[in-house]
Order: sequence, then structure tokens, then C-alpha cells
Amino acid sequence: MIPESVLNQIQDRIDIVEIISAYVPLKGAGRNFKAPCPFHPEKTPSFMVSADKQIFHCFGCGVGGNVFSFLMKQEKKDFREVVEMLADRAGVEIPKDKVISPQAVERSTALVKANEFAAGFYHRFLLEKKEAEDARLYLAKRGISDATIKNFKLGFAPDAWDGLCRAAKERIPDAVLEKAGLVVSKKEGGFYDRFRRRILFPIVDVKGACVAFGGRVLDESLPKYLNSPETEIYIKGKHLYGFAQARKAIHDSDAVIVVEGYMDVIACHQAGVENVVASLGTALTVDQVRLVKRNTKNVFILYDADQAGELATLRGLELFLEEGLDVKIVRLPSGHDPDSFIKERGVGHFKEALSKAQTLFDYKLAILKEKFDPRAVEGRVKIANEMVLLFRKVPNEILRSVWVRELARELTLSEEALMTEVHKAAEKGKGFTVSAPPPPQNEVRSVEKLLIGLMLDHPDFVLRAREEVRADDFQHPAARNIVKRLLEGANTSPLVSQLVNFYKDDPDAVRLISLSCAEIEAILDKQKTFADCLLWVKRSRITTQREGLRTEILAAQRQGDKNRINQLLYDFNELNKGMRKINEKK
Ligand code: GTP
Ligand code: MN
Repeated sequence: MIPESVLNQIQDRIDIVEIISAYVPLKGAGRNFKAPCPFHPEKTPSFMVSADKQIFHCFGCGVGGNVFSFLMKQEKKDFREVVEMLADRAGVEIPKDKVISPQAVERSTALVKANEFAAGFYHRFLLEKKEAEDARLYLAKRGISDATIKNFKLGFAPDAWDGLCRAAKERIPDAVLEKAGLVVSKKEGGFYDRFRRRILFPIVDVKGACVAFGGRVLDESLPKYLNSPETEIYIKGKHLYGFAQARKAIHDSDAVIVVEGYMDVIACHQAGVENVVASLGTALTVDQVRLVKRNTKNVFILYDADQAGELATLRGLELFLEEGLDVKIVRLPSGHDPDSFIKERGVGHFKEALSKAQTLFDYKLAILKEKFDPRAVEGRVKIANEMVLLFRKVPNEILRSVWVRELARELTLSEEALMTEVHKAAEKGKGFTVSAPPPPQNEVRSVEKLLIGLMLDHPDFVLRAREEVRADDFQHPAARNIVKRLLEGANTSPLVSQLVNFYKDDPDAVRLISLSCAEIEAILDKQKTFADCLLWVKRSRITTQREGLRTEILAAQRQGDKNRINQLLYDFNELNKGMRKINEKK
């Protein structure tokens, strides 16, 4: 996380008009500028930039935001990259380490300490205790050596409700153990161990600190694996199991092998193939792919045979392509995972399988040829269409054209025709930049947009709205969210361009902010518009209340509850009076 103050500092020193005009010919219209939108094809300009608010918005395709959002789209970079770029230009320094408050550091250190303590406890328990005999036997039966047990600090949780609780007494406070997900609180008070009678695999972060556990049963009972819950120090999909142990080998071989399970990592290591990490069952996340990318460009994917045959799995792997990594797929015989394969066939065959790894291109083509008949025309078209979807993920033009040529040859199709399809798919792939505006049910009512636009235009409107408007007067979730912030926030005049940073992970909200601001520009009498909006809100509130009362009255009539009916009719009348007053004012 880059601190908000740094973002603000950068924005203070950078002018969005100057930045955007390097890409688009902006034409001045007062404090506002117009141009043809760079994100969708158009003749008449509907892209506007506001110098006052330091935001942009396109009425054509609905894209909008601040200077960071613009550069992310234009340069196809992520938030951090764009901030770094502008920080450089603005001469603002981004604090090196993530700025974490001292309290948070203390908290997470405590959580790591608890996990480290537990790891040591479980590890010693596995190595030393009589009660761990069957766990040791189990691991031996699976061919796991003592050296491996030590290298991965495997452990065993006692078959008791309070094994860890008691061991940690006086050393780690219960509350910390609970926060670390190691113990669970009982209804009647007190705590019990989360992990019982399971082999434990410590999950460590890049620095080697234990942040969580995976625990496997000794038999066929379910769930086979139990994991630590997410905590302040453990977010699923951020870690790769075995990375700390694999790091050196990844660097030495300049390649990484990604497998699915704990046991696969361990079996590979033990067989001498050490550049192996596991994604832990879930689909690969961008965080995991980036972690790989920081260490090597060459990735081997080695999923269980049944998983790997799925097109869905394959789509997940396209993430690697998008990140510009060189990814290859290894196929094992059906029914095998790396662990079972090495055990049955030996590491020699395993390495041979690795050497036969296929590019995503070959691999996907092979799967598609199994699915669709490449001798029939329809089959070839289906295959081509699927393959084209893969191509558009490849940032490298040259590689893409090589693939196009090869596919054309494989399917005896024309290269030009394929290339056209690739371009079409690429356009589509850009997502909302060329797609239609959001569907009607997502459309924000214009009064909601006007009110947001006005409040962002002048703090006076926020102050007045605080008296008369409530967040739940707004129907659209993004609108309600923004208004809540404006009404309840400490700051009555947040800069629009800064507000956008707050919503950087919520494209709906950003779009709504830039749209509302852009629409308000056309309004001449803002005071009058604001007054009209307030009336509208009040009227619509009464209308909703009347609807509610009507239903209640019907229900009361059905029950014959005279008193209730009278009360409700009275309320209904009051509402009508209120409505008349509003209409008279107008
Ligand atoms: P073994 O059966 O001991 O060889 O383990 P494995 O790693 O081969 O298991 P499997 O191929 O069934 O699953 C692969 C990975 O998915 C595991 O290592 C876990 O990370 C995850 N996984 C499998 N089953 C479960 C489960 O029941 N719960 C959770 N949370 N994860 C699971
Ligand atoms: Mn297995």
C-alpha cells in the first residue's frame, strides 16, 4: 500500500491536463478540455478532462477517473507502476517499505511468533513423542525421510483438544493464538486447538517466517486437508508453498515448477528436484504469478493429470502469458500426481517428462484436437476460435505472429484470416473500453448522479445534504457508498481526484464519480438544480413510505384489526400532507 499522503502529494504536483495532452490532442473549453476518446473509436469528441477536478471522463464509453486511472489504461500498467512513474516525474519519494503502523507491526510480529512457536511445538512432537508414532510411520510409509521432515519442519498435532493451548500457556496469550487461527474459542469460554491429529505443513512467507499451516489427516477421513484461516499475516493466494526452500534452486536453474500439493513439493525436493512450489489447490492468483515473476521467467506447470486436461485450468495459466512469462506444461499419465509418479517411475522418468514440456500453444492445441475434430471444417473453426483467445493474452507481437503462422499451417487456414480474428479478439479483450455502456439495471438514476456531482462540486452542497439527505435515499450501491462517505466523512470537501484513489479497486464507483462530475459541468444554475434534487428525494421518500403503508393497511384489513387500520390511515394522511407541502413550495 502506498500511503494516501504520498498519492496526494504526487497529484498536487502533477497536472492531469498536461499528462493527458501528451497522448491526446486536447482542445480547451474553459477549465474543461475535450478530445476524441483514446479508449474507443469515435469521430466527435466525447472525452473530457477537468482541470479543476483533475479527472477525466468519456461520455462515449463510460471510462473515467484521475491521472492514475488514465495512465493505467493508456500504458496498460498496474496502479503501483503508474504511481512510481508519476512519483519520479513529480520528485516525490515513495517510502521504500510498505508503511505499516508500529501497532500493526507489533500485532503481526506477535502472530508470526505464535505460528513459529506452534511450528516448533508440532515439529518436536512429531520427532520425539510416543503419541506421534503412527504419524512417523505414516510419513515413513510415504517415503519421507527425516531430513525432509526437518527441511520442511513438518509436524504432528497431538490427538487432544488442548495440546497446543497447554504448551503455549504463559508464553503466548490465548487471544494471540486465536488471532493466528491456531485455537478456536469455545462457546462456554476458553479455547481448543484447531489442529488435532494431523500432519502439519508450515506455510512460510518469503522471509521464511511461518504464517499458517496446512494439516493432513493420517487416513481417508475428511476434510483431507485443514488450513489456517486467513489472518493479518496470511492471505490465501499470496503464498506459494515451498518457496523458501525452493528459492536457491529456482535461481540456480532459472526455472520454477509449479505443482498442486504439499506432498508433491516434498516428494520432488526429496528426489533432488528442488525448484518446486505448490499453489495449494486453488487457481493461481496474480500475486502468486508475480512472486514467480520476480524470480524467474521460466515456468513449468505440473498439475495432476485430470486437472491439467481441463480447459478451465488452462485459462488460469494464461495469467502467466499476460505477465510475459515463458510457461510450459508438463503432462503426466492419467491418475498420477508428481508425488505418485516419482515414487512409481523414478526421478529419471520425471525429469524426462519435464524435458517434454509443451508450450501453452502446443498444449492447448493438443487438448482442442482431442475435443474437436480437426478434419472437419467446423472442428477447425472451433479450434481456431479457442486458440485465438489464447493469442490475445500474449503481449509479445513476435511470438504472436509466430503462433498465428503455425496455427494457420496446422489447421490449413489462411494466416490473414486468423490475424484478423486475433485483432478482433484483442479489441474485445480490452473489456469495457469498447463494450457498450453498463446494462440498464445498473444505470444510476439521474437525480443520484446530479446530487453526487453537486456535492463533489462544492462543499456547501455537502453541508446542506447532510441536513436533508440520507445514504439510503440512493438506490445504486456504488452511489449509496459514495454518498455515505460524503455525508459521514470528516472532510466535507474531499478532492475528487483523491476520492478516486480511495475507490481504485471499485471501477463502478470511479465511473460514477467521473460521470457525475462531467454531467454537472453542463448545468448553469447549480443552486436551483440542487433544490430540485432535494425535493425529488423527499417526494420519492414519501412515495416509498406510502407504498409500505398501503401493504400494511391491506394486511390489517385482512386481519380485521380496526385499531391498526386507523393508526395506519392516520400515518398515510400525514404523508399526504407532507407531500402537498412539498408540492406547494415548488
Ligand atoms: P496426498 O493425498 O497426501 O498425496 O496430498 P495431495 O497434495 O496430493 O492432495 P490432492 O492432490 O488431493 O490436493 C492437492 C492440494 O489441494 C493439497 O495439497 C491441498 O493444498 C489442497 N487440498 C486438497 N484437499 C483439500 C481439502 O480438503 N481442504 C483444503 N483446504 N485443501 C485441500
Ligand atoms: Mn498426492
